[in-house]
Formats: sequence, structure tokens, C-alpha cells
Amino acid sequence: MSPLIVANWKMNTTLSEAMILANGIKKGLADIGECEVVLCPPFPWLVPLAEVIHHHPLHHLSLGAQNIHYKEFGPYTGEVSATMLKSVVKYVIIGHSERRRFARETHEEIEAKIKQALKQGLWPIVCIGEPRRPKSELLENPNELSIAHLHQPLDELHDAFRHLSKGEAEQVIVAYEPLWAISTSKDGEAATGLYANRVAQIFQQRLVKYVGASSSTHPVLYGGSVTPANAREFSHQPSIAGFLVGGASLRIRDFLSICRNAVS
Ligand code: PGA
Repeated sequence: MSPLIVANWKMNTTLSEAMILANGIKKGLADIGECEVVLCPPFPWLVPLAEVIHHHPLHHLSLGAQNIHYKEFGPYTGEVSATMLKSVVKYVIIGHSERRRFARETHEEIEAKIKQALKQGLWPIVCIGEPRRPKSELLENPNELSIAHLHQPLDELHDAFRHLSKGEAEQVIVAYEPLWAISTSKDGEAATGLYANRVAQIFQQRLVKYVGASSSTHPVLYGGSVTPANAREFSHQPSIAGFLVGGASLRIRDFLSICRNAVS
């Protein structure tokens, strides 16, 4: 599978900045093969960006939403549904730690959003967080990593998959996003490639219950301070299928360099 690289612009960019970014990324990507890139701008820029993306489409560039509501329509002021987005986006990020924290999203809502995304034919990218930074020795040598340390992420993983059929579970992309590694967090320092790979392997082992024998290749992305400097280290890890990139996805040159390093 070619690497999947997701740009999460969060609540950033004006319309003109978003257009410049999308055009620049599209232009640069024409020379980068064998990867799939997903731009997730703020909601109001999705439709204008769809015109950029669909004009001379590149087969490996598409759009994603940063969130959806779990219902199709109804009295939910300020919300946006998968039904409204499905003609524009292919992917949707669900359960990002910022939404779990600031919007107080519950496991039940996240489960319902995953179901709704699948019902509408979108690919959910479900974020699984890890609240505590492990000791530095573990980051360098993760063989000793204990399941107890991963208690919360494994619970989040279980909650996301527990009510899915095998066919549904196969379509859910997992993004391992340690909270302590996100660039805007207190530590804001990326995990090591070895550590992220070990966590991804443990996730894949847990997924055997839901997706069966194919779990060892189930896509797990890494997110948290991915930069041009560390992208290659992560991309060489067998259990890391790509990236969820925040801050660096707002800079054309950095983002393209991450994509290039992911495919090399
Ligand atoms: P970051 O954000 O790349 O800026 O650390 C990642 C994310 O929050 O998805």
C-alpha cells in the first residue's frame, strides 16, 4: 500500500491562504509518485478547494473533513453531516484529541460518527491518543513497552471498533496520535520511529478481533510533530502506513518534503 498522508489544517488559514496552499501542494505533488494525500481544511473552504482539486484531478490527491455530526439532518445548530459532505470529501477525521478535549466528544459520539461516515461511504480516520509520555528509555527501546501504559489508547481503539462488522472495520483507518507529541502540546516532541512502530503493532494485534488475519497490515498512521526531518524515520517502520500532519501541513515546502520522504 502506498503511504497515506493527511494534512490537518485545523482552524487555520483564510480562504486565500487555503487556495495558495492547495494549489502549491497540488503542483508539487505532480512530481511525487506512489502516495495518497488528503487535505483537510476548515469546513467553509472544502467547496472552493474541491474546485482546485477537481480541476485537472490528480489521482492521489483528495479532500477530507475534520469532523462530522453523527446524524444525517436535524435540529443540530452549527453542525455539518456526512450526507452534506460526501460529494466533496473522501475521508473524515474522527475523534481527534482536540475534539475529545475541547468539544468533550464521548466514546458513544465517536462510535456513532464512525458508523455515520461508513454509511455515507466516507473513509473514517479515527484518532487514538496516548496521554502520558513514556520514559525516554522506552522511546529508544520500546520492546519493554507495557500494555498498562497503553491502557487508554487501547480502550479508545476498542470503543471505536467494538460495534463494527468485519467489513466495516476494514475500512476504518487508525491514526496513532500521542497527545504529548502534538506540536502545540507542552512537550511537543515527536515519538521515535521505533516507539510509534511498536504501538502500531500492538494496535494491529488488538485489531485481529475486528478485522481478522489481515490485522497485521491494517493501516495505522502516525501523527504528532511530523516534520521533513523525521518523516523518513517513521516511513521506514513496517507498521506505519502514513502520517497525520498538523503544523507542517500549513507550509507547502515542508509538507511536500514530508510526502517525498514518505515515499522514498
Ligand atoms: P502536529 O499536529 O503535526 O502539529 O503535531 C498533529 C495533529 O494534531 O493532528
